[in-house]
Amino acid sequence: MMDVEIIRSATFEGMADPHGLPTERYRRYYAMLSRHVKTMVSGFLFISEAGRAMHPGQAGMDSADRAAAFLSVTGAVHANGAKIIAQIAHVGRQTNRADAVGVSAKKSPYFDVTPRVLSTDEADDLVEAFARAARFALEAGFDGVQLHAAHGYLIHQFLLRSINDRQDCYADRHLFLKRAIAAVRARCGTDFPLWVKISADVDIEPFVQEDFVHLIETLDACRVDAIEVSRGTMDVALNIFRGAVPLRTVLRFNPIIAAQSLPWKIFRLPFERMKIKGFSSAYNLAYAKLAQAHTLIPVYAVGGFRSGKDILASGLKHISLCRPFICEPNFLKKLTANPAYISKCINCNICAVMADSDRPLRCYQGKSP
Ligand SMILES: Cc1cc2nc3c(=O)[nH]c(=O)nc-3n(C[C@H](O)[C@H](O)[C@H](O)COP(=O)(O)O)c2cc1C
Repeated sequence: MMDVEIIRSATFEGMADPHGLPTERYRRYYAMLSRHVKTMVSGFLFISEAGRAMHPGQAGMDSADRAAAFLSVTGAVHANGAKIIAQIAHVGRQTNRADAVGVSAKKSPYFDVTPRVLSTDEADDLVEAFARAARFALEAGFDGVQLHAAHGYLIHQFLLRSINDRQDCYADRHLFLKRAIAAVRARCGTDFPLWVKISADVDIEPFVQEDFVHLIETLDACRVDAIEVSRGTMDVALNIFRGAVPLRTVLRFNPIIAAQSLPWKIFRLPFERMKIKGFSSAYNLAYAKLAQAHTLIPVYAVGGFRSGKDILASGLKHISLCRPFICEPNFLKKLTANPAYISKCINCNICAVMADSDRPLRCYQGKSP
């Protein structure tokens, strides 16, 4: 649209087999999407078994076998003249498994598992695991890699004051990210695009503007190729997305809420629900602009862009969308034909809640399955 670059942000597909390999359905999904979007970021891919999310259907990028299985996906995307970036992640404390590892012993209020604290050596090994995953992504034909340093996952855990209480070198909250970037560059070279997704504000600690600007300065000094500005952690996951709270779907399909006792559901759930922010358009824009004011590296704003008006009014050159493409993969075609077009996405968030189930990604248009 005009001179604004619009990409599809990382969107979990839930289409891998139990071994973490992309299925034919996964390939077909990207073959279809790449007819409509020129640049897309994959759903988060685990960098190691221990870093795997609780989501069934997550794919992995931690071995040559898994990488080879992606060649058909990247090939299908390239056949349509499009590009796909691999988002790589480690969940850290954001999992319900008993053997969760974390930056500190502080547990996520949502996942409620006390993580085992990573030793310095283990953290060093994980830096290398990110770099190995990036190298596998390169070999799998991806056009770049995005480090998932947002949404409360492991890299973000290192960045957060309220979680990182370490006494070793990683008490420097940026060190893990800086080392991961350097390690990816060492294995993949500087020509292989390296993006980073960050959360600006979170629900679990106050926003500190100097911290945010400092993070942007760090990424600028590391010369990453793009920064995507999102918000939040999985502790209040629906605030990453904003919009409706599809309670019926949550109670039926969310494994953590479904496992809570009846009194919890009756007494606590209404309070939990009150934490959820209502939808507003372009809700991370102010942070993305703040970031762009401190770097010449392209900054993508993600969150709540639903119309040509939202996009043009943003004043940004780079915008990233998720739910509009789940709802209408050909959203951009409609927008190009009519800049006043408004996405049919109603922010029902059923797609987001269903990501925790064993069902693959799709739009539900407000109808709980
Ligand atoms: C179903 C679904 C899956 C998502 N999966 C990921 C993911 O794997 N990695 C990620 O960084 N963000 C993920 N997100 C968040 C989006 O990338 C985006 O930050 C968020 O939805 C806000 O953008 P939107 O208003 O355009 O939907 C997901 C969102 C949804 C709805």
